[in-house]
Amino acid sequence: MSDHDHDQNLDYEAGTASVVDMHDAVKREKVLQPSGHEPMGVTALVLCAMALIGGGIVFGHNNGFSSSIYVQDFYTPEPPPSEDGAAAADENVAWIDKWMKDGKKVYNNCIACHQPDGLGAPGQFPPLVGSEWVDGGTERLGAIMLNGIAGPFTVAGQSYNQAMPAWNGLSDEKIAQVVTYIRREFGTLPEGQDGVVTTEMIEAARELYGGKPTWDEGGLLAIPEDAMLPGAKVDLQTGEPIQ
Ligand code: HEC
Repeated sequence: MSDHDHDQNLDYEAGTASVVDMHDAVKREKVLQPSGHEPMGVTALVLCAMALIGGGIVFGHNNGFSSSIYVQDFYTPEPPPSEDGAAAADENVAWIDKWMKDGKKVYNNCIACHQPDGLGAPGQFPPLVGSEWVDGGTERLGAIMLNGIAGPFTVAGQSYNQAMPAWNGLSDEKIAQVVTYIRREFGTLPEGQDGVVTTEMIEAARELYGGKPTWDEGGLLAIPEDAMLPGAKVDLQTGEPIQ
């Protein structure tokens, strides 16, 4: 039996300590954390949880991140983008602006001859800008739109001799929109109701002139220059009749 077997006072320096024994001892003992790194006490943990839950309840009761505390009362946000977001935004647009926008679309039927800028083509197609027909009474315009024109025709002192097609295939509404468009876009009418032609007015024009043959200049000149189609004027903002 060697000395080492009995020697309990193991000495690492002397080489009497077994590495395995030392590790066993370390595993058995609870590890001491360095100061400041001790695990948190249960009490502190519970206190933190209570603070978090309590804070959450107060936050929730006060509407959390609701915009009301950051945004002033009179501020109206833009409608969120969506498929009918455009429709929603449309509600803020004045009636006359929509009417003109639609009229501009119908005017696509006219640009081949009268041109997008309404200036026409010299010697061929008369201008709508500076035309006494466009600025004059709406009854003549309704008549022109429904039956067209053939033969020599004078506009702003210039003669033309081509054909203006009839547009009676368009709905009353579309005719009303395009006539409004040319009067307000190309005419020299003062701002206001005077340029506006409504569906009701074109209905009246159809009663007067629907089914009549193509006009010649003489026939159109027989309609008084300032004759207006019957029908209520409308509020430009709402499109509702006013009297
Ligand atoms: C195919 C060519 C053509 C097209 C398309 C056409 N016009 Fe005309 N328009 C004429 C001609 C030509 C005259 C003159 C009549 C003539 O020479 O006999 C005229 C005359 C007019 C006049 C009266 C004269 C003036 O210049 O003010 C108005 C108003 C008018 N057109 C509006 C329209 C509108 C609105 C449209 C579209 C819905 C339209 N025209 C489409 C050829 C056309």
